[in-house]
Amino acid sequence: MGTIKCIGILTSGGDAPGMNAAIRAITRSAIYNGLTVKGIYRGYKGLITGEIQEFKTQNVSNIIQLGGTILKTARCEEFKTPEGRKTAYETMQKEGIDALVVIGGDGSLTGARLLAQEYDIPCIGLPGTIDNDLFGTDTTIGYDTALNTILDAVDKIRDTATSHERLFFVEVMGRDAGFLALNGAIAAGAEAAIIPEFNTEVDQLEEFIKNGFRKSKNSSIVLVAESEITGGAIHYAERVKNEYPQYDVRVTILGHLQRGGSPTAHDRIIASRMGVASIQALMEGQRNVMIGIENDQIVYVPFSKAIKNDKPIDRELVNVLNELSI
Ligand code: ADP
Ligand code: F6P
Repeated sequence: MGTIKCIGILTSGGDAPGMNAAIRAITRSAIYNGLTVKGIYRGYKGLITGEIQEFKTQNVSNIIQLGGTILKTARCEEFKTPEGRKTAYETMQKEGIDALVVIGGDGSLTGARLLAQEYDIPCIGLPGTIDNDLFGTDTTIGYDTALNTILDAVDKIRDTATSHERLFFVEVMGRDAGFLALNGAIAAGAEAAIIPEFNTEVDQLEEFIKNGFRKSKNSSIVLVAESEITGGAIHYAERVKNEYPQYDVRVTILGHLQRGGSPTAHDRIIASRMGVASIQALMEGQRNVMIGIENDQIVYVPFSKAIKNDKPIDRELVNVLNELSI
């Protein structure tokens, strides 16, 4: 591998608050270290079509506070094919891009891993997803902001839940991961969380009712992680209507509002630290790793570990929620 002179940055998959802070940090740190920076628009799509612009330090001014991503993002089916990745590689050669920093979730880092393997390109990943489902980092960029958005929404829903003495199922995002639902429930003081990790273990609705729904309260809020398998909040509300018709049930699906908004201080700080670390990693000769933060320290996590391992749910959090919702 020759010396790295020019890096490309792209954001891919679902947008997440803090992606702009990461773009800013990568750009500024690369320029600080004498590298040329190219911003690639619309994720892997832009790498295939050549939607690329050189970034100077002022291109990333005044963006640290913005949600979304100034580079836009996309889901690109073509990149999943060897032909698509070949075209992407050819674009990189044409543009003189020697290394890539990819900000995205599990799917985006899978793509980076394949490109790195097939064309011997140094690729560094930054965990950018509200789902917090990447292994090897305590949190992902965007997760803290999404949690705070959930908290805000549930605080408001609680007013109605209490006044009408209702049972609310609030559906949150997370794809196949329950971090937003579980920690959102703890932070919002909800009564329970129904998460995909436990779907096959127990009937979580039955447990919730059995463990004393309405023992001490006349209203309840249950956070439900979205799930194609169970059908999410709507499914559980339907079950309650059929199995426990005495309860007044409502559903709120928070949806994409969880992905927007100005990033929290925590997300801006981890995005900035991870961005700087990505350039440091490239200069040290690291390749094909995701930057993580564990116990407040920067760590390099091989793509194979970050993507393939399911990040486990901490049972202590489940206990906290159970004990505090009596
Ligand atoms: P996220 O990165 O948020 O998990 P996706 O799973 O939608 O989002 O992935 C984003 C993009 O990453 C996809 O549209 C595709 O371009 C690329 N990608 C995902 N999975 C793969 C794969 N198995 N091989 C190559 N590229 C992939
Ligand atoms: O991965 C982030 C995420 O917001 C998931 O929580 C959710 O399942 C998915 O993306 C929704 O994606 P889309 O942008 O296609 O609606």
